[in-house]
Amino acid sequence: MGEKLEAELAEEKSSDIRNDGSIVGKSVVRVDAWDKVTGKAQYVDDIPFPGCWYGGTVRSNVPHGKIVKIERSPSFDWSKVIFVAAKDLPGPNEVAMVRRDMPILAKEIVNYVSEPIALIAAPTKALLKAALKAVKVEIEPLEPVLTIEEALSGENVIWGEDNVLAKFEVNKGDAEEAFNEADIIIEETYRTGHQEQLYLEPQGMVALPRDDGGVEVIGSLQCPYYVHSAMTHAFMLPPEKVVIKQAVTGGGFGGKEDFPSLLAIHAAILALKAKRPVKIIYDRAEDMVSTTKRHPSRIRHRTGVKKDGTIVAQDIDLVLDGGAYTTLSIVVLQRSLLHATGCYNIPNAHVSAKVVATNTPPNGAFRGFGAPQSIFAMERQMDKIARTLNLSPVEVRRKNLLRVGDTFPFGQAVEDEGPRLVFERALVISEYERKRAEYSRDRGPKRRGIGVSLFLHGGGFTGSGEQAIDGKVKLKLTSERVELYVSSVDMGQGAATVLTQITAQGLQIPFERVKYMSPDTSKTPDSGPTVASRTTMIVGKIVLRGAEKLIKRLKKYVSDSLDVPFEEVTYNKGFFQRNGVYVVDFLEAARSYEEKHGPLEVIGDYSHPAELYWDDDRCQGDAYQGYAWGANVLEVEVDMDTWEVRPLRDTVVVDVGTAINPLLAVGQVEGGSLQGLGYGYLEVIEVEGGKYKNDRLSNYIIPTSVDCPDFFVELTEIPCSKGAFGAKGLGEMPLSGGGPAVAAAIEHATGLFSNKLPITGEVLTALELKGDERRS
Ligand code: MTE
Ligand code: MOS
Repeated sequence: MGEKLEAELAEEKSSDIRNDGSIVGKSVVRVDAWDKVTGKAQYVDDIPFPGCWYGGTVRSNVPHGKIVKIERSPSFDWSKVIFVAAKDLPGPNEVAMVRRDMPILAKEIVNYVSEPIALIAAPTKALLKAALKAVKVEIEPLEPVLTIEEALSGENVIWGEDNVLAKFEVNKGDAEEAFNEADIIIEETYRTGHQEQLYLEPQGMVALPRDDGGVEVIGSLQCPYYVHSAMTHAFMLPPEKVVIKQAVTGGGFGGKEDFPSLLAIHAAILALKAKRPVKIIYDRAEDMVSTTKRHPSRIRHRTGVKKDGTIVAQDIDLVLDGGAYTTLSIVVLQRSLLHATGCYNIPNAHVSAKVVATNTPPNGAFRGFGAPQSIFAMERQMDKIARTLNLSPVEVRRKNLLRVGDTFPFGQAVEDEGPRLVFERALVISEYERKRAEYSRDRGPKRRGIGVSLFLHGGGFTGSGEQAIDGKVKLKLTSERVELYVSSVDMGQGAATVLTQITAQGLQIPFERVKYMSPDTSKTPDSGPTVASRTTMIVGKIVLRGAEKLIKRLKKYVSDSLDVPFEEVTYNKGFFQRNGVYVVDFLEAARSYEEKHGPLEVIGDYSHPAELYWDDDRCQGDAYQGYAWGANVLEVEVDMDTWEVRPLRDTVVVDVGTAINPLLAVGQVEGGSLQGLGYGYLEVIEVEGGKYKNDRLSNYIIPTSVDCPDFFVELTEIPCSKGAFGAKGLGEMPLSGGGPAVAAAIEHATGLFSNKLPITGEVLTALELKGDERRS
């Protein structure tokens, strides 16, 4: 790589700081950029481990059944490999997550197609393949539960007493009573399918046995401490004997939130038994058939409306398909429930929510975490109200928008005018009204359509979640730099860069003097998992508390060593001063401290805003510390003969609070919106007999550059007092806008109203056959 480029980059960076002394709000080049573009970055499969064996998995091929026999072919030489089944496990056969219902390996019963039954490690990939082929598992099939309806009927119970993994309910006012005041009641049932995270890098993990009987795991993951606690539980090891390190991670999107716990245990079991490193890297097909997906949903809306479009009452019945085990379904469901009424003020609301078990692979976290399903249903319902009352979708939304002081069904009051601001701005810059009229005049085989969606996302963990995590970070001051130790990972979203900016700004030192250290549980305190769009907003705030502490400690040192009263020393823009006179700068003080005492370490800790109230049992109160808002105006062209949909232009206005790094923020918005578009009209997973039929990129179609609309992204920045420098959680939110926007735009172009996602050609044809009329 050109040294010149690097020099230019360095210059660009420092000039960025010099501008007005602030690194927050500057689009500095991401700290991982050069390693990634030059290929220097090492993903787990790139790291050489001498003597490493390859691990693989024997899986179920039926959705539900009794394991009768695991047969190993006598013609294979089993002395050359390591074989492990459930009976050989060293500790409890449980993957410790929110619950412990998921086994490490199925023992007697299999509950989904692809469920792990046994593990094999071999010195070569070829031998591993041969060994996997030499295992036959005899399974006596049991009746499976494959759909939400079958699960709800309770006829065949596969989980607990009634197949219900979790349920919640919230009430505001009296919905049933208020329906009497409505001019019309509008009902619809919405459905969404699975969605695959499709991170570029598949799941991968390597485990290394340690001399002290412990084990180290290096892998592609989002939550080092989730993996750590699952490992200590499975191996009954003390915390210090388990070390988890994050390798450079090629995307997670929620898919590496819970699954890596299972994979790490698998690799470690083999490594401990083989007494050597063992690596398990899934190929795309294995990854697609066996790892978690977005929960399919069925959401029923019943809305009481006045003739002018004002909503007076709403009843929502929300059901998610959790798959065979709980994984994160309880919290996904909670988020679904809390986002169910979208950006609207519903004076009387009743929302009930359930997640049920089915004999399909466990569903888990995926960017949005339950919100995209809810928001799709709510936004479609707004369009349905408009269609039914012959009003414009914009007017119906405008009438019901949340304003400051309005409350969500769970009681939390809205604190800013974000919904109105992003909505009106998106309409203006997209020229929505003019285009709506123009596209309505399209005739002929190709017609354009324009649709709008509104969405929101609560940043950080739900309710008291952040208190429970009680995140901590470590700042280590050496003579040359400040090292930042957090368990929050960079998986492409830019956390390493953004946290570096926050640290530098908090300490008022140059960006280059801060080093984000890659997460390693033996060195890094637990700042919590990298999920819930919490890193910038919440972890950033913890980092700032650490920075404050570090400055205070250094100030104490300066005051002691110069024999100046502590109160007389101030710190500003990198300088310690006494009564306004320069004494020493930050780095000089750091060098001097290090020479005398060695590196200075401080821990930043979480402080919960005292005014927030949350009742977990009743799901009432301040569910989130701040809400980010968004509006998406999408324009598409639809081929009326082939139903081919081409996104043309996507205007997305989001309020993200303070944008710490605007370019990275825009990248999050474009990427998330595109993932949402894919969810809306392209990405199909067909399940047949509990088996995913789409297991590769040739039959699981995601948007490529050809399908990418021209993006026009604008950031509205309404600072949030709970986030670092006013930041709100942004990472997941944009995804929720894509699905409903594409549905609305396709409706405008074709005249066909789809109540489900994804809207494929088959769906549009079925709508016509059912009697929907295409636009004349
Ligand atoms: N962006 C990229 N490029 N890659 C990812 O894996 N994950 C998303 C989002 N944006 C993801 C991403 C998800 S699911 C979450 S929860 C947030 O980033 C987490 O990061 P944050 O807390 O820094 O927003
Ligand atoms: Mo994101 S779905 O919270 O990892």
